[in-house]
Amino acid sequence: MAEALAEPLALRIQQNVDLHHLNTFRVAARARYFTQITAPEHVPALCAWLREHPMPHLLIGQASNILFRQDYPGLIIDFSLKGVRVETQSAAQVDVAVNGGEIWHDFVCYCLREHWYGLENLSLIPGTVGAAPVQNIGAYGVELSRFVRYVDAVELSSGSARRFSAADCEFGYRSSIFKHALRDRYLITCVGLRLARQSALVLDYPALQEALREVPPDELTPQLLSDTVCAIRRSKLPDPRQLGNAGSFFWNPQITRARFAELRQDYPEIPGYPEDEYVKIPAAWLIERCGWKGYREGDVGVHQEHALVLVNHGKATGAALVALAERIQASVEQRFGIQLVPEVRIV
Ligand code: EPU
Repeated sequence: MAEALAEPLALRIQQNVDLHHLNTFRVAARARYFTQITAPEHVPALCAWLREHPMPHLLIGQASNILFRQDYPGLIIDFSLKGVRVETQSAAQVDVAVNGGEIWHDFVCYCLREHWYGLENLSLIPGTVGAAPVQNIGAYGVELSRFVRYVDAVELSSGSARRFSAADCEFGYRSSIFKHALRDRYLITCVGLRLARQSALVLDYPALQEALREVPPDELTPQLLSDTVCAIRRSKLPDPRQLGNAGSFFWNPQITRARFAELRQDYPEIPGYPEDEYVKIPAAWLIERCGWKGYREGDVGVHQEHALVLVNHGKATGAALVALAERIQASVEQRFGIQLVPEVRIV
């Protein structure tokens, strides 16, 4: 049973907290300490507490991109401060400030109701708004970075607030400065986004084109696009409430054009998406070709509908999922000479 420690400024630090329902993989793990940030005054209190009790700390939104391999030896911070505020708006666009604790998909739905457009392709991505810039969430041809004006964050060690411009965030494919150089150093409190007030639908992604092929152009609305993205996701990606998972487990690898041309000789059907001097290959295709799709051993497995999604069928441990990931990596490396790198954070 979790027990409360000191309560500086009503911040509650709990001990020995069960994380089972707090991670989308639904693996059993406990946090030595746990706190939930629900009020602005909790932030300085948290920084002060960490200064007094230096220890490893980990921010989780909905822990939708984290795999706990073991119990966490430090403090887990759940930032759940919500709120959306319009900063400025014109006929063409709206600038909104969104607190990091908002649930991402709820915010996308809110935008659609307000007729603020741009985020439709990012519908149904699990996680919070504060976690979204960390890995520059992306789906169906759109990445968050194209909307970000700034990210407000607090340095946990000093308690000082800093505004990061979009350029400061160093956004890349599923990455940002918060995932690399500044990992675990800043608490993202608020994200400033610029959204459109006239819809401009992004329909290039093949799966979307296929799904919307028969819809007359005048019936293509942002709401329909969002609904279609949700339907595609639901058909391929398991709902974490029913089957533990964290979406794509590995990054899609980028290989040189020359290496891609070689692979094409052996596997003429291999899909690849050219990006500058590289070609991005779907990791799912590589994993499926190695025979892993739908694989199950005990409670660990690979989703039947999508080879890039590792799943917990019930009581899988984080360690067993990591072991499966390593076996998949080894077989892809052996067959294709390509190293898969986990996109999910393993702690
Ligand atoms: N494919 C297979 N086997 C499968 C599934 C897919 O061979 O079981 C091949 C097909 O050729 C398919 C291609 O992989 O055309 C791409 O599949 P999909 O459209 O599902 O996209 P993905 O590359 O597997 C990426 C993101 C997803 C995002 C989708 C849609 C990464 C690591 N993943 O997946 O993001 O939803 O595109 O944009 O970039 C996530 O980050 O958790 C996530 C789900």
